[in-house]
Amino acid sequence: MNQSFQQFDLDPCLPGHPDPYGTYAALLQQSAAHWCEGPQMWIVLGHAESLELMRDPRFSRQDHLDKLIARFGRNGHIYERQKLDIPYMDGKQHARMRQHVIKAYHGIDLLALAEFTRRFAVDRLSRIKGDEPFDLVALLANDLPGMVASELMGVPPSQQLEVANKVSAFVRARGLTQTEQTASGGGDALEIYGHYFLPLIQARRGGGQQDLLSRLIDDPTEGISLSDEQLLLIISSNFYSASVYTVRLLIGTIAWAMASHPDTYQRVRSDRKLVAAAIEEVLRWDPPAQALNASTATADLVIAGQTIKAGDSVTALVGAANRDPRVFDQPDQFLIDRSPNPHLSFAPGVHQCLGLHLARMQGAVVLSVLCDQFESLHWEPSESRRLIADRFRGFEHLILHR
Ligand code: HEM
Repeated sequence: MNQSFQQFDLDPCLPGHPDPYGTYAALLQQSAAHWCEGPQMWIVLGHAESLELMRDPRFSRQDHLDKLIARFGRNGHIYERQKLDIPYMDGKQHARMRQHVIKAYHGIDLLALAEFTRRFAVDRLSRIKGDEPFDLVALLANDLPGMVASELMGVPPSQQLEVANKVSAFVRARGLTQTEQTASGGGDALEIYGHYFLPLIQARRGGGQQDLLSRLIDDPTEGISLSDEQLLLIISSNFYSASVYTVRLLIGTIAWAMASHPDTYQRVRSDRKLVAAAIEEVLRWDPPAQALNASTATADLVIAGQTIKAGDSVTALVGAANRDPRVFDQPDQFLIDRSPNPHLSFAPGVHQCLGLHLARMQGAVVLSVLCDQFESLHWEPSESRRLIADRFRGFEHLILHR
């Protein structure tokens, strides 16, 4: 039995199980918030309660990092650095950095990026002939989000794949359950980012260019000028980790949802206006990020009737909240006609996802290209493999054929 399964057995409320939804539903029926021993934190499963947590400024990410630093000592230096990273900032400092990134994003040409995405997806998927089986993750999902992130960041094409491959260790160090190994692995990964991105940053400082990296470096009208360390964190965490990992998982889950719902797939193929609704339902039904980063309560609070003491850490289990029967009819069914579909997969609160347009764009382009190229989609359960990875969910290998 691998380590993740053991963790799950010890902590039935942790994500990471091959099919966690039955456990989530049973837990939610008992209470919308539970204490979990393994990660030593509260897990909130209800929709209303998760939304409340996402919007409550009395939870601190910085305090949670302080707890990790105290726990891991010398190996905790990645958490010290993460204090400069947007998802781990609080209050005014967080709001200012969010605004800066949102403003820098405004200059992104999403249509041009969609075309870049479409060309890449067409190139990879058109390599499949007849009904030969293929692994969608290896063929497309592993590389596409990294290529899109690198295109945005101005990485030379010859280095784009190499950069994307360095992401995993950094992502693992951001999980809910931390070990000495993940703590030191994350630190090493950050050094690697410096190797690729410091030259790009230096080339742009004072260069008057108008690309995304240049817009992130400074904003004189707001008196913002970021250090190399801040920029490396934004690049590694907010662009690569945030997008490469989650969008990769989203792509696999989209294809799996379609292959396991052939009638829905045919509806989407014949009416492409349904693509957007299909992506939203995939995001609700099986979200790539099953839980949020943890926060720590700065005061005694009550959620779902449970007293959360100042200093306790908390996360929202989005995967459970998205199937809360108080909000969604037939929550376990994949139904693309849901309207509205108020899923929480992009955390609509203080830390709402800054890349949701990029994520939706890549998902929609991939689904459209699949519809163009595959008149039917079938999957091979025995040869496909789920990723077992803390708060993320999706496929490590997804074997498909026509
Ligand atoms: C399917 C793909 C994606 C999903 C499911 C997803 C999900 C999320 C979630 C749940 C959060 C909240 C995290 C928390 O509160 O702990 C978040 C935050 C964030 N996401 Fe995404 N994300 C996706 C893609 C992206 C992409 C493509 C980017 C950027 C290129 C991105 C950048 C960010 C950033 C910067 C934050 C932090 C915002 C803040 O703390 O204020 N994400 N995302």
